Order: sequence, then structure tokens, then C-alpha cells
Amino acid sequence: MTKTLADIANAMVAPGKGILAADESSGTIKKRFDSIKVESTADTRRDYREMLFRSTEAMKNHISGVILYDETIRQKAKDGTPLVDIMNAAGSIPGIKVDTGAKALPGPTSKIETVTEGLDGLRERLAEYHKLGARFAKWRAVITIADGCPSHNCIHANAHALARYAALCQEAGIVPIVEPEVVMDGTHSTHDIDTCYDVTQWTLKETFQELYFAGVALEGIVLKPNMVIAGQKCAKQASAQEVAEKTIKVLKACVPSAVPGIAFLSGGQSDEMATEHLSLMNAMGPLPWRLTFSYGRALQAAALKAWGGKSENVAAGQRAFAHRARMNGLAALGKWEPKLEKAA
Ligand code: 13P
Repeated sequence: MTKTLADIANAMVAPGKGILAADESSGTIKKRFDSIKVESTADTRRDYREMLFRSTEAMKNHISGVILYDETIRQKAKDGTPLVDIMNAAGSIPGIKVDTGAKALPGPTSKIETVTEGLDGLRERLAEYHKLGARFAKWRAVITIADGCPSHNCIHANAHALARYAALCQEAGIVPIVEPEVVMDGTHSTHDIDTCYDVTQWTLKETFQELYFAGVALEGIVLKPNMVIAGQKCAKQASAQEVAEKTIKVLKACVPSAVPGIAFLSGGQSDEMATEHLSLMNAMGPLPWRLTFSYGRALQAAALKAWGGKSENVAAGQRAFAHRARMNGLAALGKWEPKLEKAA
């Protein structure tokens, strides 16, 4: 029986499970590899990702799906098995990043603001990705807080592109992850949690309006937002409880209950903070949607370090990854506690 968009979206946010964002572009993965002094080649990228995808217990129990980059969805493991087959064998759904990156938005704020590109030819690319096994996709819009930013032009252009992308995905039988990210690494010292709240609210309102105009079925999407959190440069940082409360408040104000699930990005939070915030929010239930993770850095940082590019460290890398997957799986149920980190 073919699965509907709603079936896939619900599976992506199944209880105790979340999404691994392993869709770093070639430039981003090179930066990650630079940090452990490993050369980024097609083979090292394959080895690293194969290590994650072969963490069978973690994948089976806590990773509902994996967002891949174009190179990875076509890659085979060292023994010749397609990486997509390894994921499917663990019951984890393959997904694909389809945007082609955030580019300078022309206009008065072009030095700061971007619009995410990738709509040209997207219908054809989605058809190919579906054949390659992808059942969901991702498109990330970037909203920056700075002097005079965000502009309405930026929020609107990005929301419009997200909606066109989402409609094309659904036409292709692919669930769109809709990711409008208000970034926390702005340079603005007055970027406190309330500024983030206001900008996140504006961004989500605009995004859902454009999704409506584009005829996107909310039952067949997953929203991937930022949490409401102070900027990294802001002297006034908020408590974990405040982050959780304000994030839930803005989501309740903006996200219709037809949306099956919300899977957060980690955005530069430490591994444990990202886990703690998610757990606190889930403990505030009942909520109208499932709340889970779609972390990149906060799921991978420890594993990347433990691996360090050496084949003899694969088991250690997998242990580190499995630990974070388990902690975040508990957070998705509101059952994480700090002492569980120490127990490992
Ligand atoms: P981070 O969790 O590292 O922010 O990455 C998630 C992601 O997919 C960003 O697009």
C-alpha cells in the first residue's frame, strides 16, 4: 500500500524518534572535518556517514529519518550497499536537502539578508530524488536579526519560496520539511529572547500564510523551526525554562494543529542544551503536535570528535552518536534528565 503524505509525516515524528540532519553541503562538511583535521573527500565523507547510518540500534530506535545531501543519496557503503538501503533496513526514512543555498537578497539589506534559492528545475529534481528513495525533503530559509533586519522583503521572499517548494514536494509525493530559521548567531548585542520571539512570530505567521496561498496540505508537512532563544552575542541569556515556555507560546500562537509535528534545528546550541530544551517543552504537554528534534550539530558533534577520521574509532563514534540519539529520543518524550548524561 502506498503511504500518504500524512503517513510519512507522522512516521517522521513517531514517539521517541526524531530526524538526523546529515545534509551538510560540501562546504559545511569540510568545515566540520577541518575541526578534526580530516581531509574532506568523497571517501571520508562516505566513511563518516556510513558510520552513523550503521549505528543500528540508534537508527532503529531513535532516528525516524535522515536528511541527506545530493552526493550521499547516490553513495554506496564501502561494501557496495547503497547508503539508502542501510537506512531503510533500519526503518529510517531517507530524505534530501533540495535548496541550493542562501544567496544575497538584492536591496538595501543585501549585505546581511539572504533568500534561499533552488526552485528552478525543482519539479524534475524531486521526481529523480523520489526514484532514489527520498520520501521527504528539506529547504532552509535564513532570517537574521540585525540593525534594520529582518526586513519584510526578506521574510516574505523566503516564506514565498518555502511555500512554492512545499507545494512542489507534495505534488511529487514527498513530505516537505519547512524550515524558516531565525538564526541565533547574529552579531547584535540587543538580540535577546524577546526579540527572537517577535521575529519568530512574524516569520511563522508569514510562512503559514504563504503555505495556505500555495495550497499546501498542512497534514503532510513537518515544520522545522528555531527555538525562541537569545542571540549568542547577547549578554542577557534566558534560562532553559524560559526558552521552553516562550517557544511553546509562539508555536501555539502560529502553528495550526493540523501540522503533525515540529522538529527543531539545534542552531548552535550545545548538545545538552538542545536536549534539555526539547525535554522541558515535551514535559509541558499535552500539545497539539508532536515535538521532536531534527538536529545536525547537536546529534553529530560528539560522534565526529570520537571518530576523528580513524577506522579504529568507528565503534567509539557510534557509541557517542547512539548516546545523543538516546538522550534526544527521551527528550522527545519529555523524559530526559541531566543525570542520564552522567550515567553514560
Ligand atoms: P543544526 O541542528 O546543526 O542547526 O542543523 C540542522 C539543520 O538541518 C540546519 O538546516
